[in-house]
Amino acid sequence: MLKRVIPFAHELIQKATKPGEIVVDATCGNGHDTIVLCKATGPNGKVYAFDVQKAAIENTQALLDANNITHAELIHDSHHHVDRYLKEEQDLLAGAIFNLGYLPGSNKSVITKPEYTLEAINKMLALLKVGGVIVCVVYYGHPGGQEEKDALINKLGQLNQKKYQVLQYGFINQRNHPPFIIAIEKKNDKLL
Ligand SMILES: C[S@@+](CC[C@H](N)C(=O)[O-])C[C@H]1O[C@@H](n2cnc3c(N)ncnc32)[C@H](O)[C@@H]1O
Repeated sequence: MLKRVIPFAHELIQKATKPGEIVVDATCGNGHDTIVLCKATGPNGKVYAFDVQKAAIENTQALLDANNITHAELIHDSHHHVDRYLKEEQDLLAGAIFNLGYLPGSNKSVITKPEYTLEAINKMLALLKVGGVIVCVVYYGHPGGQEEKDALINKLGQLNQKKYQVLQYGFINQRNHPPFIIAIEKKNDKLL
């Protein structure tokens, strides 16, 4: 009955995204979220997918090719440089997903960092449409993970409640640092 974390993250993005819109996969890794986003935008939309690891970009490209999907632009760069690639998408971004931590199957040496994650989120909030959503799936069992978790809860918990709704969703009786979601929805502050 209660949705697990990854399906709930996907449901939030799918609900916020209409066919033809623009979304971001901030950490494409092996490409599983990229595929979900590409299905949500449909072929008339666009998915920008970032990763700092070449292997992740290659794995995602292979998955896209296997699914005959061509409307994703893969960007081998850090997500905190999002403003270098999305310049005219002000108020047009329907959503973004961050899957934090390290690439499954890799040596865990490359992890998401709180300062870059927060800079990327702040830049994407400026691009987000009203009703758009940024979803972070927070893994924090690895070295460095707890610092990122604390920084996100601290900073995102201070976002202006007139402009944003910030949700935390996760199971509190699971062992081994279960992942949880922080989701930010942009409100229509003109209605206030
Ligand atoms: C948990 S994995 C993502 C899993 C992916 N969403 C999937 O479906 O397979 C986290 C990814 O974030 C990437 N990463 C780390 N720091 C990054 C940054 N500053 N910008 C973009 N990607 C980053 C890592 O290389 C890794 O591939």
